[in-house]
Amino acid sequence: MTTNTTTNTNTMTTTPDAAAAGTWQLGDRTVHRLGLGAMRLVGMPWDTTPRDRDASVAVLRRAVELGVNHIDTAAFYFTPVRSANELISTALQPYGDDLTITTKVGPARSRNGDFEEMARPEQLRGQVEENLRQLGRDHLDIVNLRWGTRMAGEGREPESVAEHFGALAELRDAGLVRNLGISNVLPEQLTEAMTVAPVVCVQNQYGLTSREDDAVLALCGEHSIAFVPFFAVGAAVPGASPRGGADETGQAEVAGVAAAHGVTPAQVRLAWTLHRGPHVLAIPGTGSPVHLEENVAAGALRLTDEELALLDGIAPAAG
Ligand SMILES: NC(=O)c1ccc[n+]([C@@H]2O[C@H](COP(=O)([O-])OP(=O)(O)OC[C@H]3O[C@@H](n4cnc5c(N)ncnc54)[C@H](OP(=O)(O)O)[C@@H]3O)[C@@H](O)[C@H]2O)c1
Repeated sequence: MTTNTTTNTNTMTTTPDAAAAGTWQLGDRTVHRLGLGAMRLVGMPWDTTPRDRDASVAVLRRAVELGVNHIDTAAFYFTPVRSANELISTALQPYGDDLTITTKVGPARSRNGDFEEMARPEQLRGQVEENLRQLGRDHLDIVNLRWGTRMAGEGREPESVAEHFGALAELRDAGLVRNLGISNVLPEQLTEAMTVAPVVCVQNQYGLTSREDDAVLALCGEHSIAFVPFFAVGAAVPGASPRGGADETGQAEVAGVAAAHGVTPAQVRLAWTLHRGPHVLAIPGTGSPVHLEENVAAGALRLTDEELALLDGIAPAAG
């Protein structure tokens, strides 16, 4: 199916190394399968205090030290006083050659943070250029068309993505973008996008207890497209979503597997996603240096067949 590799190490070293998760080819970029999501570095709208700026800069720098070379961001990740792209630019310039920054366009946000209508196709260029300015780059490694505003399980409709994806394909042809991906899509929308331009990654909500997109994950595998789940850890973390509560499904099973390995439940959830296929990449979001180290270490965690069977049974595949 693919020529990508996974490093088979069963040892957890003192200093975690993102390389232990193996690598994946994202178009013309090679990344470690264990990356970092930048959304949490700015804090969330419902947080009562902003994230400490220096701490977020330190998390980014530490992530790169630990071998993370795939960072997910967006110009629309901002709070009144923090911008994910600005933090990345401040922390990581001059960028290393092997660093891949993936960004997203589509949703428009007003300057006071309100989400507005999805951008029209002709407005995507402006959003790409906004990312270029904020990140301080002349081209973007990967741009996802972040489709719609609805997440898994909330009744998405298969509207056509062709016009928007076509607009991004033009920007790729113009050299502003190297590779394209798509986010929050159904299988038919991915299939449609693939007829417009090569798709290197799909970013959908997915995790141990949120498996509505098993079919999308499988489709990506068939086409050697990376599947990049978000909210794989946070679903079980109190306060990680605006709803406040955490999904407690399978808590006992996850805790049992975690105890057997001497790791945390969050690490097991993350490792489970990576076991879903060599094309699955992780982008856990954190502003915590401790969680960062744990998440990178989870890339080296190898689950047994018995453990995987137990975990797979918690919320069996959709459909
Ligand atoms: N395409 C899209 O529509 C979309 C939507 C949402 C997010 N994303 C991207 O995907 C990335 C990941 O999604 P996400 O940040 O929502 O969810 P996530 O990474 O699954 O979870 C983040 C939450 O879990 C906590 N956490 C992280 N690591 C932990 C650990 N080892 N132990 C305990 N708690 C831990 C974080 O808090 P701490 O900060 O305290 O660690 C935060 O509350 C984002 O950062 C963003 O780049 C994309």
